[in-house]
Amino acid sequence: MTAPAGRPRARSPGEAFPPDDVATMRIALALARRGLGNTWPNPAVGAVVWTPGPDGPVILGRGWTQPGGRPHAEPVALAQAGAAARGATLSVTLEPCSHFGKTAPCSHAILDAGIARVVSAIEDPDPRVNGRGHIMMRAHGVTVSVGVLASEARWANRGFIKRIVEGRPMVTLKLARTADGYAAACAGPRLMITGPEAAARVHLMRAQHDVVLVGVGTVLADDPLLTCRLPGLEHRSPVRVVLDTTLRTPPGARIVATAREVPTWIVAALDAPGAAETALAQAGAVVIRVPRAPDGAGLDLLAALAALSARGVTRAFCEGGPRLAESLALAGQVDAVEILTGPDRLGRPGLPSIGPALAQIIERDPQMERGEAVPLGRDAWRSYARRR
Ligand SMILES: NC(=O)c1ccc[n+]([C@@H]2O[C@H](COP(=O)([O-])OP(=O)(O)OC[C@H]3O[C@@H](n4cnc5c(N)ncnc54)[C@H](OP(=O)(O)O)[C@@H]3O)[C@@H](O)[C@H]2O)c1
Repeated sequence: MTAPAGRPRARSPGEAFPPDDVATMRIALALARRGLGNTWPNPAVGAVVWTPGPDGPVILGRGWTQPGGRPHAEPVALAQAGAAARGATLSVTLEPCSHFGKTAPCSHAILDAGIARVVSAIEDPDPRVNGRGHIMMRAHGVTVSVGVLASEARWANRGFIKRIVEGRPMVTLKLARTADGYAAACAGPRLMITGPEAAARVHLMRAQHDVVLVGVGTVLADDPLLTCRLPGLEHRSPVRVVLDTTLRTPPGARIVATAREVPTWIVAALDAPGAAETALAQAGAVVIRVPRAPDGAGLDLLAALAALSARGVTRAFCEGGPRLAESLALAGQVDAVEILTGPDRLGRPGLPSIGPALAQIIERDPQMERGEAVPLGRDAWRSYARRR
């Protein structure tokens, strides 16, 4: 059976792609990761212009989506390659765009540069593209191969794809827990569970997300800043989002007091007091209103996530607390989980870090891939990812 004209030919499972196509796509995926958290609402894409050489591909140009989503990866890589792009191959982690937005479409730039062949990981689900970029380039004589490292590229683009297809951002949950499984003590001062290596890892993850999300319980208990404070990456702090049904967040909380430097959005119920909104807005925070949950317990999470998506958010990093984490699990909105386990036991009953719905996801959901436990200083770090 032949594929419809202009559509990528589906590969059978065991059919291998040429090694140079795979190697250059790996480079393009690594470049794409540089933009994570920094390109929304656009996807973080990587592109490589190359030509075959006796010892493997010769790289002529590299590009990744620039802060704010423009320029796209392809024109950056093409500009670096210059005249050498004529007759060369371009490997790209997402189908080049074909529509006129604020800039000319990348597929036009590719044709203008004289690229002979495009190796693309996946189609762009954006209805304005959705295969048209590939069709257009084929129609102009460019050879197009689609599907190289497709599952890796789908994962790298998961936030963008989820926003386009479902109208919600990808959610990564981060939990720190004691060796006996607690997120916090029931009362008393904040528990320091993990060490400096884990903190650095968490700050890097903040930089790779569009927003960091917490419930108001965490703001009231810990008064966190939730910024990225890694040297050199301070400018990569995500927007801070608090789910706060009745606007209990104090205007003096650090997350509000710093809202003019790093944006803070507070999601509240439609009937939350207007006076509290005024005080928070005067301090620099933005209040977003959504309905309450149908059962009355907090906010309607799907509506809250849809409201973030409507503002362009593709990747949300949830740092707790346990109540919000469990609600996200119950709502089926957990795409990845990062668990950091400290070496010390609490040694008395505290707040369990993992509720029953989340335990079900990480222990029994066949779609959750479980990574190896990796040591981070004195702590252990394990990742789970919903790759399908
Ligand atoms: N170890 C860790 O990784 C970690 C991380 C964060 C926090 N903590 C600890 O956890 C404790 C706070 O726990 P927590 O569970 O109360 O905090 P939380 O999950 O941050 O906040 C829960 C609050 O968020 C609001 N909320 C609004 N909509 C919600 C929804 N759909 N689902 C869930 N919550 C919603 C609710 O308050 P309203 O109804 O008033 O809006 C709810 O009480 C603190 O002791 C903190 O130190 C530990």
